[in-house]
Amino acid sequence: MCGIVGYIGSQEAFPILIKGLKQLEYRGYDSAGIALISESKKLNIYKTKGKVIHLEEETQNRDKSGNVGIAHTRWATHGEPSVVNAHPHISMSGELTLVHNGIIENYALLKEQLIEKGYTFKSTTDTEVLVQLIDYYYQKNGKKLTKAVCKALNDVIGAYAIVVLETNNPGHLVAARKSSPLVVGVGQDQKDYYIASDATPIVAYTKKVVYLEDGQIADITPNKEIEIINLEEKSMNVDIHEVNLDISKLSKGGFDHFMLKEIYDQPQCLKDCMRGRLFVDEENPCNNRIVLSALTNFKDRLLQAKHIIIVACGTSWHAGLIGKQLIEKFCRIRVEVEYASEFRYRDPVIEKDDVIIAISQSGETADTLAAIQLAKEHGALIFGIVNAVGSSIAREADTGIYIHVGPEIGVASTKAFTGQVNVLTLLALALGHEIGTLPDDQYRQNIAELSLIPSKIQEVLQQNEKIKRISTYFTYARNFLYLGRGFNYPVALEGALKLKEISYIHAEGYPAAEMKHGPIALVDQEMPIIFIATHHKLYQKIISNMEEVKSRKGRILAIVTEGDEDVKKIANETIEIPQTLNFLIPLLTVIPLQLLSYHVAVARGLNVDMPRNLAKSVTVE
Ligand code: M6R
Repeated sequence: MCGIVGYIGSQEAFPILIKGLKQLEYRGYDSAGIALISESKKLNIYKTKGKVIHLEEETQNRDKSGNVGIAHTRWATHGEPSVVNAHPHISMSGELTLVHNGIIENYALLKEQLIEKGYTFKSTTDTEVLVQLIDYYYQKNGKKLTKAVCKALNDVIGAYAIVVLETNNPGHLVAARKSSPLVVGVGQDQKDYYIASDATPIVAYTKKVVYLEDGQIADITPNKEIEIINLEEKSMNVDIHEVNLDISKLSKGGFDHFMLKEIYDQPQCLKDCMRGRLFVDEENPCNNRIVLSALTNFKDRLLQAKHIIIVACGTSWHAGLIGKQLIEKFCRIRVEVEYASEFRYRDPVIEKDDVIIAISQSGETADTLAAIQLAKEHGALIFGIVNAVGSSIAREADTGIYIHVGPEIGVASTKAFTGQVNVLTLLALALGHEIGTLPDDQYRQNIAELSLIPSKIQEVLQQNEKIKRISTYFTYARNFLYLGRGFNYPVALEGALKLKEISYIHAEGYPAAEMKHGPIALVDQEMPIIFIATHHKLYQKIISNMEEVKSRKGRILAIVTEGDEDVKKIANETIEIPQTLNFLIPLLTVIPLQLLSYHVAVARGLNVDMPRNLAKSVTVE
């Protein structure tokens, strides 16, 4: 999704802005641009369709001087990806330049009104409407930029993070946000300020950041404290936070792609995720325990919950489906799992003693954020399961658990999924034990088994070469089916999503028993079918499903428990995973599916880390 970088201070802005744009590339984009004001107050705007590297090349011998600038990577929503639609956008007067993330929903009406006032437009974007609207108020209000921004934003319906540059007064920048994140980094002695849509481009310069809240407008001037007002033009407190983001974790570490690195990171990530939370005493398992501060601090509310609603999107929603099974199994509490985008608009029943669990890697997904805001209005407790520290969802939640798997750069979510499932497992075990629905001895045994999962993932990873070989048989395929049952059903959905998003092959996940109710019509010798057929009580039933596929000449790849002999007789290929308890199986069965989709996409020569049309952080509806 779009990325914003801004800088104002005593240094040359261009290198900081370009570096920042590169660090935001992981969010996904289709064009890029930059605006700088030189010392002689000359505004230079450079834009390109395509990658930031092209922008860098195209500007090689151009004037890039200036200590203030704004830059943007655009992921098209209104208007095709093109140079003219790329940001920054300039107002008709040439006095204001703006970058914007989000969507101005009432842009068509505002545009009509501006056209009546004599404004003309070059692009088809909603963003150009916004800069013209600010310009309108700017000309009307004695060229006071902050006031003009405030007035314009009061007319706007939609989501935005913006930074505005004033050609004739390059000594400050004005930034604002609503439903789209924006972070301001405060340099040493406030000599300079760094602005970005997440903290990634900022942490190399400063650890001090201000997270703008919805409806806040910041006036940013070097050598002065940042000033923040709300949409009623009332002065607001400025909260400065410390961020701790390890920059070294943002590199590929010798892997060809971030996605592969992140798949391989998973054993360590899960150890990090459990550190300080899961305690195993091998000599005396009676001491095995889980400690979650979120559970201690909100114990009464959580123990009283009769109903839990999980809201999430995409991969996080799949983790939520596993969370439902875990919580219902161990805590005997009714759980619903909702697509955040549906939940927010369908007038759901939310009671004040309900608990809403919001799952999000980025912590910025617009629909998930809106869903929890709605639930908050009904008085429900908001419990966040988030990766990005300090993100909007993390801040909006009453309590929660960070998954602590480090920055996830590949657009296809991998380590965040296992991190989310891991945290949901910790929560379900700890809560079930507190409630008394999970007996003490089982609780201690489950903890011991959970602690072994990182090394079992390591064992699965050792089959990478075999999975790579198998993937070559499947690159031709146009459709895939993924089938699983119980805890492996959400894994089937996740496997299918992984394949389609990076290899552009159509794939569907189903509960295996549903195959007879429709999908079996698709099966022929061209059709690969992935069965997740580990040992559990429905194993024999899955074998029957496999026979049905085999008799229709479908090609079967099966994920099986190590030592399995029965499935090997039916399937064309098998991948073994180590034995574990049934409720922990998704943490292992998902790994070969992540690797399979990775290798299929690489074999098809595709951009694995930045697949077409997708964004890492979906901050618009
Ligand atoms: O940041 P979030 O977890 O809230 O993102 C939700 C989805 O956009 C995300 O999981 C998406 O489906 C991924 N590309 C899946 O790999």
